[in-house]
Amino acid sequence: MVGREISVENLVPEYVRALVPYAPGKPIEELERELGITGCIKLASNENPLGPSPRALEAIAAVAPSIHRYPDGNVFNLKKALAERLSIEPSWLVFGNGSNELIELAARTFLRPGESAVAGNPSFSVYGSVVQAMNGRMHLVPLVDGRHDLEGMAEAITADTRIVFIANPNNPTGAMNDAGELAAFMEKVPDHIIVVVDEAYYEYVTREDYPDSMSYVREGRNVIVLRTFSKIYGLAGLRIGYGMARPELVDAMNRVRQPFNANAVAQAAALAALGDDDHMRKSIQVNYEGKVFMYALFQEMGVGYYPSEANFIWLELERDAKEVYSALLHKGIIVRPMGPTQIRVSIGLPEENRRFAEAFKEIMGGGIE
Ligand SMILES: Cc1ncc(COP(=O)(O)O)c(C=O)c1O
Repeated sequence: MVGREISVENLVPEYVRALVPYAPGKPIEELERELGITGCIKLASNENPLGPSPRALEAIAAVAPSIHRYPDGNVFNLKKALAERLSIEPSWLVFGNGSNELIELAARTFLRPGESAVAGNPSFSVYGSVVQAMNGRMHLVPLVDGRHDLEGMAEAITADTRIVFIANPNNPTGAMNDAGELAAFMEKVPDHIIVVVDEAYYEYVTREDYPDSMSYVREGRNVIVLRTFSKIYGLAGLRIGYGMARPELVDAMNRVRQPFNANAVAQAAALAALGDDDHMRKSIQVNYEGKVFMYALFQEMGVGYYPSEANFIWLELERDAKEVYSALLHKGIIVRPMGPTQIRVSIGLPEENRRFAEAFKEIMGGGIE
């Protein structure tokens, strides 16, 4: 056991030791094990409550006998189908093990140790982790009204900045920057900066002034647009997302990524899910109706929230978020504590939303045991 005598400080770089592990939403099975109950619901990770498309399930069954083969490292079929849908060439697409991996790939490909990136705060925590894991520095710019302060973010760019991360709509607030705001930002941002526009919730957006971020990609700007099959497509457990950028940037990321980072089952399921417009329509509808229900609840209760362009809502509770979170857990409902007095709740099925509403009213109106 000689290895144990060497201190971790000597083995692990300081910037890795300083990383804060990602805190995922609590899995349903874990809560059920802890409480010794069944029937818990999870409104914590912005998943599609309808589940995956039935077409994706069929595709998974069809591909299962072939999983002794390596996947297609070039993702030919899915890339071709997506390229047609998006009216771009296949060479403008890169795939990842979830869009999470593409965020990491952006940092590993474009950031040198000691250089910096810019992101909003609060925003998706993975931006900060991947930058730190590269021994980079992150400039965090506070949100304004739940959305990115794009003017402030442009001003936060310094000589060593390489990447700006913009989640639009933003997670955890659900608020979005409009086309005018992004256009003004794109005018200011120097050409050598890689702008990562993370559109994980793109398909849920209903506002007409949502930016057409792909237009900057098409213009040849250094913009990478990220989307995912984890949210509206209901394939979070399979881990597949994609990025769109000019071919030179895609080529650079392809050199850094693992050769088989998009697995065979995920590729087949994503291709099938992409063709299921009916499932997409239903998912949008359930989410829209769920938001209307939740907004009415929060207005009735006087709880502050941001109108959301995604499938979750950020709440300002004006009381201890951890206590409310744990009181909800005891009623079998998992949400996400986000700040000292804030939680984020994902939109569920109508019956899940009703169950949340009942428990939430009881907890907020009465006491917390
Ligand atoms: C803004 C944003 N980006 C990226 C992701 C990562 O999604 P995935 O890796 O499952 O594609 C999430 C997931 O919650 C997210 O909210």
